Amino acid sequence: MSNLKIAVQKSGRLHNDSMNILKEVGISIDNGRDQLKAAANNFPLEVFYLRNGDIPQYLADGVVDAAIIGENVLIEKNQNLSVLEKLGFSGCRLSVALPKTAAYSGIQDLNGLRIATSYPNTVNAFLRKHQVNAQVHIINGSVEIAPNIGLAEAIVDIVSSGSTLFKNNLKEVAVLFKSEAVLVKSPKISTVQQEILDTLQFRLQSVLKARN
Ligand code: PRP
Ligand code: MG
Repeated sequence: MSNLKIAVQKSGRLHNDSMNILKEVGISIDNGRDQLKAAANNFPLEVFYLRNGDIPQYLADGVVDAAIIGENVLIEKNQNLSVLEKLGFSGCRLSVALPKTAAYSGIQDLNGLRIATSYPNTVNAFLRKHQVNAQVHIINGSVEIAPNIGLAEAIVDIVSSGSTLFKNNLKEVAVLFKSEAVLVKSPKISTVQQEILDTLQFRLQSVLKARN
């Protein structure tokens, strides 16, 4: 029998809410997240726990049929994947931040700065669009520390509550885009799996409607 293979963030901010929404649509998953995959016992579905940044490629290759993922990651990995449904959780924005004391009057002030980020493609596209010349430094986590240790004069990272910026004496000066968790599918999904995904999507829509 063929199950729908769905990727979910292994660990991180989307994990719990992703598992919760699957539970809310009545899907009961057998194992905890110590394992890399787990089957549902009452729905033809298998969950694959993967690293955020790897999920777009798995979708593009058809290794998984669908995923729950942040739009920010989809945009960064740019695999032309179609979003089926906005899921209404893990809302955040991708923003430029500077030290609190830095002068800032507009995007042009980023000229000549070193910008630390985990989103190099997105940032480079943003800089090109605004014709800003800046150096992008890739850091994979704890990006907000970069200005304090002299690695960069600016950062571009996810802002949710704003508390990480605050704790690191940074201020948000520009928003690249807003993001939330979404349901995405692989362009290589088969007919059988598509039917299961349709059922899942329909159930998700009912849950989302009831939440609003
Ligand atoms: C994320 C993100 C920001 C922070 C934003 O980091 O990279 O640093 O959360 O949330 P806030 O505005 O509510 O403070 P995370 O803690 O997931 O760790 P990482 O950057 O090391 O991956
Ligand atoms: Mg962080």
